[in-house]
This record gives sequence, structure tokens and C-alpha cells, in this order.
Amino acid sequence: MSSFSTPLSRRLGLRYPLVAAPMFLVSNAEMLIAAAEAGILGAMPSLNARTPEAFEEILRQVRAKTDKPFAINLTIGLTEPGRLQRDVELCLEYEVPALITSYGNPTPIVAAAKTRGIFVMHDVIQLQHAKKAVAAGVDAIIGVSQGAGGHAGTVNPYVLIPYLRRHLPVPIVAAGCIGGGEQVAASFALGAELAYMGTRFVACAEAGAPEAYKQMLVDATHDDIVYTDEVSGIHANFLKQTLPSERIGSRDDAPKRWKEIWSAGQGVSLIDEVKPMGAIVEDIVREYHDAVARLRG
Ligand SMILES: Cc1cc2nc3c(=O)[nH]c(=O)nc-3n(C[C@H](O)[C@H](O)[C@H](O)COP(=O)(O)O)c2cc1C
Repeated sequence: MSSFSTPLSRRLGLRYPLVAAPMFLVSNAEMLIAAAEAGILGAMPSLNARTPEAFEEILRQVRAKTDKPFAINLTIGLTEPGRLQRDVELCLEYEVPALITSYGNPTPIVAAAKTRGIFVMHDVIQLQHAKKAVAAGVDAIIGVSQGAGGHAGTVNPYVLIPYLRRHLPVPIVAAGCIGGGEQVAASFALGAELAYMGTRFVACAEAGAPEAYKQMLVDATHDDIVYTDEVSGIHANFLKQTLPSERIGSRDDAPKRWKEIWSAGQGVSLIDEVKPMGAIVEDIVREYHDAVARLRG
């Protein structure tokens, strides 16, 4: 399958300008390795390892299995400060190729990463936060648009990506509702340099999500996605069947555990099958080339 690239994907040493985005409780070492082997950037929140020791074991395992790039996500405001500090130290020690910072001010992490030449991207839903992150020295900004899985923004990608690009001096990564190769092509048309995909990769064979969750993604459409702050206090998109509020009055109205509340973006409408990571990447690349050929007439 012929590769395609952008200045940012070449800088990161990727075969394809795609990211398997970090997902709480879903991303794991198997996904990082499969993504690396498929030629894209796999990413995992450090908190998916219960302890710093378990996190170090994952870094060791990934380093042993691949010499290709991967990324670790540091969820700043959601991580206890001592744990965050230790995870940053481990990322430096294992020379993690790229860091993705989210939910907070990345300044100290960027300063530490720069001492080892580590690439840092920061995740935002609005320009104001992006400007602060750029001032702190991040290398790229991830614009998370309306309809994304996880803590989505409210701005449509047609506006968000060109708007961020127009106002920022760093490359922009497009996130939200990128379900396949057509949306990847559209993201590049909007000026993004990487396409950042979460929901599509929950439905990959390697993902650490329950099988029922993966099947729900295959069965669901965007009508099943609800944007609410009822789960964490911050607005995010969830599969409505798994939300506690949907169960009020139902026979089983015990409080739901976080693990049973499943997040997904509107891109669920484009998922037909659970497949291995490598096969999904092949599909996306083929769809991308078909979309570009169609545009060329
Ligand atoms: C189940 C799930 C968990 C997520 N957890 C995180 C997380 O821990 N950290 C983070 O920065 N983003 C997280 N996100 C957001 C993704 O990294 C990414 O921005 C988003 O999935 C892109 O939109 P898409 O799902 O429409 O492709 C999560 C998304 C999902 C679907």
C-alpha cells in the first residue's frame, strides 16, 4: 500500500500521518506495538497502568518489541501530582518518542521533555488554551472538535482546524469524527498534518475494551451518542445505553461503575466490523487513496 505523508509525519518517522489516539482504559501495550508495526503513531495514557511500576513494565515491553515511534499521554489535571512526576521521569528515562499532554498546563512537562529532545503535542478544544501551550513550547496542537470520543469540543472541524492553523505557528493535528480515509483526506484539506483517531480504534482486536463495547460500536450510530457532563463534570461523548441517567427507573438502577460507562464519538456510524489494528490501517489508507483519486477526477 503506497504511503503518504506530511511534514509532521516525516518528522515523527511515521509511514502514514495517522495517530491511534490515547484512550483511558482502552489503549494498551498491544495497541502501541500494533500501531508502530502498521506505520502509525500509537498512544496510551500513562494512567492505563495502575502503578508507575506497571507503567515502566509497559515501556520496557514496547521498547523490546519495536524500535518505531509511539506516544504516551499525560493527563495533567486528572493525575495525582506525585504519580504525574514519576510518569514524566519514566518517559524521559525510556526516551519515549512523543508525549501528548491534556487536561492542564503542560509548561513543566514541555521543559522536561525538551532536555531529551522529546516531541510534545497538546490537546485543546479552543484557541485560548492552544496559545498558552504554544507559549510553553509545545511542538504541535491537537484540535479536538465537536463529536469526538472522550472530552470533545463544541466547534465543528470545518472551522476549528483552519481557525487554529490561521492563529498558531505550529502544526495542527485534527481530532474528532475521523472514522475512515475520507475523513483523513478531509482533515488534510483543512490543513491538518496528522489525523488523530480514537473511536475507530476502540473497535480493534488489540484494544483493551470489553467485547460488548466493541460490538456496541459496530451496532451504534451517531444517534446513540450523548454529549453530557453527568459522568465526570466535564462534557464528553458517551454511548447513551451505558449512561447512568438512561437506567433510572430500570430494574437495575445500581450506580454504574466508570468501567461500564462507555465513551465514543459520532464516528461510530462508520464502524462496521472489529478488526486487527493493521487491517484497519490498511482500510483507512485504501479509503484515503480512493478519496484523493475521486477528487482528482
Ligand atoms: C474511550 C475513550 C477514552 C479516551 N480517553 C482519553 C484520555 O485518557 N486522554 C486523552 O487525552 N484523550 C482521551 N480520549 C480522546 C481521544 O484521545 C481522541 O481525542 C478522540 O477519541 C478523537 O475523537 P474520535 O473518537 O471521534 O476519533 C478518549 C476517547 C475515547 C473514545
